[in-house]
Amino acid sequence: MRQEIADWVARLEYQPFSGMMRYQLGEVDQHFEPVAPTGGKRFRPLLCFAACAAAGGNWRDALSIAAGIELLHNFSLIHDDIEDRDPTRHHRATVWKVWGEPQAINAGDGMLALANRVVASTPQEPQIAVDVARRFADTTLELTEGQYLDMSFEGRQDVTPEEYMAMISLKTGALINFSAWSGAFIAGASDAVCTATSRYGAELGLAFQIHDDIQGIWGTAAATGKQEAGDLHNRKKTLPVLLALSRAGPDGRRTLTSFYRRDNDDIEAVLRVLADTDARGLATAAVEGHREAALAALRTGVGPDPALAGLVPELTGG
Ligand code: IPE
Ligand code: IPE
Ligand code: MG
Ligand code: MG
Repeated sequence: MRQEIADWVARLEYQPFSGMMRYQLGEVDQHFEPVAPTGGKRFRPLLCFAACAAAGGNWRDALSIAAGIELLHNFSLIHDDIEDRDPTRHHRATVWKVWGEPQAINAGDGMLALANRVVASTPQEPQIAVDVARRFADTTLELTEGQYLDMSFEGRQDVTPEEYMAMISLKTGALINFSAWSGAFIAGASDAVCTATSRYGAELGLAFQIHDDIQGIWGTAAATGKQEAGDLHNRKKTLPVLLALSRAGPDGRRTLTSFYRRDNDDIEAVLRVLADTDARGLATAAVEGHREAALAALRTGVGPDPALAGLVPELTGG
């Protein structure tokens, strides 16, 4: 799959343009010199392969779709780092930090187009390929809508945990859902199995994003490869913060709202309110709930599959 993606990127005519993509994918450094493969976990393509195998298919049949999934994911990361003003990802400067926002937007746009091109090259019969391409486009729309909602929450003081859950099911859940569903669909699984696999992916996506949000406050830079407490610096209204807001007394609420209005930069005070309200414990319980729901969908709708079951704790800190 890594080679499949590299081959597609290598076809692009303008090498400095494709070089930004190769940098994002962890193949080259800022001078476009090869580096030992680095970058992300690549779990979404792996999930697609595992779902295909679990449904009795040959994972190689899902190669193009899996490659397209990883390209779409990396498009979203390039644009996400601009939107979130994040300077670091994968222990390196983000694409916009190296080449500036305008060229990072172009690199992301190119990667999105490439993702669609690669998915369209899937070798199955035309009707299957069209069904997959249509759902891939719907997934992209959901992801983008989720990113829109995420940004719009930064300017609001009244976001509820329910709104947050709807937002993350779009920005993160949709692609993880698609990764699982497409593997089962390509394998020729029944509607019931495809639906259960999709449900497993959606629940895994929720658990994964809440876990990522916990890391975005309490994770070390060494562990995450991103800026420490980056989500607090960026005033992201992630679940731990929303839970703290709903539980804090008047003093705690004042501390949080003035910080999120950018009246001050007192991260230590925010961390104290989060500790007082056990925001981390509550968010961790939410991760566990969605982790269980993912495993239940697997048990009842797909069957015991060690690879799919094993991904759940691995990706959600369980
Ligand atoms: C990061 O996803 C974006 C989120 C949905 C939280 P990953 O953590 O899967 O990104 P990489 O590709 O492994 O870095
Ligand atoms: C994750 O966004 C969703 C997408 C990139 C579409 P986040 O902003 O929560 O992810 P990180 O923490 O930057 O990886
Ligand atoms: Mg981000
Ligand atoms: Mg973001």
